[in-house]
Amino acid sequence: MSIAKSTTADVKRITTRILREMKVKGERITMLTAYDFSMARILDQAGIDILLVGDSASNVIAGHETTLPITLDQMIFLSASVVRGVSRALVVCDLPFGTYQGDSKNALQSAVRIMKESGAHAVKLEGGEFVIESVKRIISAGIPVMGHLGLMPQSIYRFGTYVVRATEQDEAEQLLRDAQLLQDAGCFAVVLEKIPSTLAQQVQARLEIPVIGIGAGPLCDGQVLVTHDMLGITQEFSPRFLRRYGSLGDDMLDAFRRYAADVRAGDFPKMEESY
Ligand code: KIV
Repeated sequence: MSIAKSTTADVKRITTRILREMKVKGERITMLTAYDFSMARILDQAGIDILLVGDSASNVIAGHETTLPITLDQMIFLSASVVRGVSRALVVCDLPFGTYQGDSKNALQSAVRIMKESGAHAVKLEGGEFVIESVKRIISAGIPVMGHLGLMPQSIYRFGTYVVRATEQDEAEQLLRDAQLLQDAGCFAVVLEKIPSTLAQQVQARLEIPVIGIGAGPLCDGQVLVTHDMLGITQEFSPRFLRRYGSLGDDMLDAFRRYAADVRAGDFPKMEESY
């Protein structure tokens, strides 16, 4: 397996400790979302360091408008499928909306279910100060936690919009405090979504744990994208931060149309494709 520009190519298993070492060495961390076995296998073969079973599955897999409806059982099903496809990457599963915000005991129960029933290696949750008791309780049970600040899609009805967050000083200062709180509580990494790159740079410089950006500029320790977006399977979503590495949506449409035409014309299957 060859992984371009990575000194961790020989690492058999990505762990939270290795991610921390990558930050120290200045080596960029790669992260993409995965929701099923087949995709996870390809992502793992490509040497992607972290596979996120994101609650974005609510949008791209289930077709909901927001990430709110997806359930813990559904996340566990997806996460278990991803884990079965992976031998190297660290698998992080999102705690879905409503499974950790209320009280820390409930948060721990949700995280334990993900770890036990799916075999994921870590959980991710959105928020800083207002979920810090949940973060501490989950970590005290030995479960690695990744934080998520900036644009937090589970709070979309509070924000009212998906525009760039923390452009005002108050919110930027709160984000800096939250990032520090998450590190102090023991998080192994934090995702920053859709914030100014100068603010992301400050967080990256202040924290010892890796900072993974999505729409947070080039100065984070790593980057994450939604795989369906970067492959061009979802086409209606085109924020500035999204670079497309494929046009699979078009390729699939073409393949499905050619298949349908062949079947309708009686051209598939041919005798040599039969028994
Ligand atoms: O659910 C998700 O895909 C995410 C990424 C956008 C970071 O949280």
